[in-house]
Amino acid sequence: MRGSRIAGMGHFVPENIVTNDHLAALMETSDEWIAKRTGIRERRWVVGDVGATDLAVPAVEQALAEAGMTAADLDMIIFATLSPDVNFPGSSCLLQARLAVPGIATLDIRNQCTGFVYGLSVADQFIRTGAMKTVLVVGAEVHSSGLDISTRGRDVAVLFGDGAGAAVLTATEGDNRLIDSALHADGTDYEILMLEAPASRLNPRFTPEMFEQGRHYPQMVGQAVFKHAVKRLPEVIDEVLSRNGATIDDVALMVPHQANLRINEMVARMIGIDSSKVYNNIQRYGNTTAASIPIALHEAVQEGRVKSGDLVLLAAFGAGLTWGANLIRW
Ligand code: ACO
Repeated sequence: MRGSRIAGMGHFVPENIVTNDHLAALMETSDEWIAKRTGIRERRWVVGDVGATDLAVPAVEQALAEAGMTAADLDMIIFATLSPDVNFPGSSCLLQARLAVPGIATLDIRNQCTGFVYGLSVADQFIRTGAMKTVLVVGAEVHSSGLDISTRGRDVAVLFGDGAGAAVLTATEGDNRLIDSALHADGTDYEILMLEAPASRLNPRFTPEMFEQGRHYPQMVGQAVFKHAVKRLPEVIDEVLSRNGATIDDVALMVPHQANLRINEMVARMIGIDSSKVYNNIQRYGNTTAASIPIALHEAVQEGRVKSGDLVLLAAFGAGLTWGANLIRW
């Protein structure tokens, strides 16, 4: 039966390292507060005018090289980001132009930290049906230019980093494939994590007053998001494992979304997976949203943490609220 496998991956982060001490010089915070609550030690922030697509391009070039392909082999580009280069058109179109492959299908996914998990599933569906053979899935974010880097915004600003990750999915008849994905959302509490302005429901969309109020910065009720994460992640992990006849003991490596090390440690305890089988890199990159899973998965592959035949579990939650998981036979 036709399915999809990851033929190659790539990732890219900006050179500029911003430590917790750097942030403590800009706002009332400390390395101790940030590290204790989140595990984050440093993150990468772009310098100057750099968009999500600028970070995506080197990640994609690496993924194509790993797959032994060129952009001409792609049938479709799926781009997951909450920080698009421009409000419209979608970053998938900008990336397509940069890769010089006009004509192929492009699609943007607006599912925040769950964006890459959704993207893999969408690519897999197109490949399974025979509509596409090879699909590029990208998660890329530039958060730093959109954060309130002051004491007013410290609860959010310290969490986020910039980066990009990419995977090339291609058709296979073999067992090494994306086995299944579980996708969910609940918009009831969308306001607990959102960036409100400028946007269509405001008329005018942006005013000097909104600028003064900081309504163009992300707003988050951190503890509510935390509670959502530690409930939904174990649920969706159990769902995708049990409906494929697997248990957590069968999983060789879990790559969770990197939002907070405490969340990932708590979830690991709840589902009963040994910490040696969970890949975390939030300490170095902060939360890169749609990019966090492909960056972490590619690092794990590069470090030899995944071998052919391993069962790999990806799981994410984020704004929306959205959550989901992918189960892969590597
Ligand atoms: N430095 C120092 N103090 C701070 C900072 C900071 N950076 N930020 C907040 N504080 C203060 C608060 O003002 C508060 O002070 P008060 O007690 O005097 O009012 C105190 O620290 C405690 O704040 P809490 O919000 O209660 O801290 P909490 O323990 O909940 O940790 C955190 C906050 C780390 C944000 C946590 O709630 C969390 O990780 N939540 C999940 C967030 C998340 O995963 N978001 C991303 C989802 S991804 C996506 O889709 C975009």
